[in-house]
Amino acid sequence: MTEDEQKQMAAAAAVEHIKDGMVVGLGTGSTAAKMVDLVGARVKDGLDIIAVPTSEATAAQARGLGIKVVGLDEVSVIDLTIDGTDEVDPQMRLIKGGGGAHLREKIVASLSDKMIVIAENKKMVDQLGAFKLPVEVIPFASGALLPKMEALGAEPAIRMNGDEPFRTDENNLIIDCAFGKIEDPEAIALTLSLMPGVVEHGLFIDMADLVLIGTDEGVKSFEKAE
Ligand code: 5RP
Repeated sequence: MTEDEQKQMAAAAAVEHIKDGMVVGLGTGSTAAKMVDLVGARVKDGLDIIAVPTSEATAAQARGLGIKVVGLDEVSVIDLTIDGTDEVDPQMRLIKGGGGAHLREKIVASLSDKMIVIAENKKMVDQLGAFKLPVEVIPFASGALLPKMEALGAEPAIRMNGDEPFRTDENNLIIDCAFGKIEDPEAIALTLSLMPGVVEHGLFIDMADLVLIGTDEGVKSFEKAE
């Protein structure tokens, strides 16, 4: 089975959790895009939902599929958010932001009653950190923050888009931090959160309620312990 098929399986399993009347957070990335396509198909078949997208790209996709899209200020509750991930460890801690959308993704997930994470098999890791941790920073601070990231044990690099620095939907920059292994994700998350100039990092801790992984043996499901 290809990685694309695994993503599709996980997306299909997640979409089954969406019910009429829900406000649904729509994630960003290639796996989330498959999920949005499936939501669009269900909306065409009569599913009645409102969606809060986590990026301009997802908003455009959802609108194109006829899904009703609103901003965060237009809803009082988000019932369920479905999003992809770059890594997930056995404690259901995530690294996100490969697509540069983790700021809005984290805001939407944090306001959701439930977060379902969908991914292909290779995203499951024993320890976080092989994927470079994305950190969104304000442009003014980016140069000054590079040595701070180094002091944390990372090799930092400003993400590029061709010859220009990559810009997020909030017009910020991303510093990708190569840690290799992150021994203490909670400590790194806290340290980064307290750094002036850091807008948001890609560590999602204690946010995922259900992880659905597409594998050759079917969809594996991991639920947060109560
Ligand atoms: C975007 C994200 C994505 O969810 C993450 O990068 C996974 O993407 P993909 O499904 O394309 O592998 O966090 O900011």
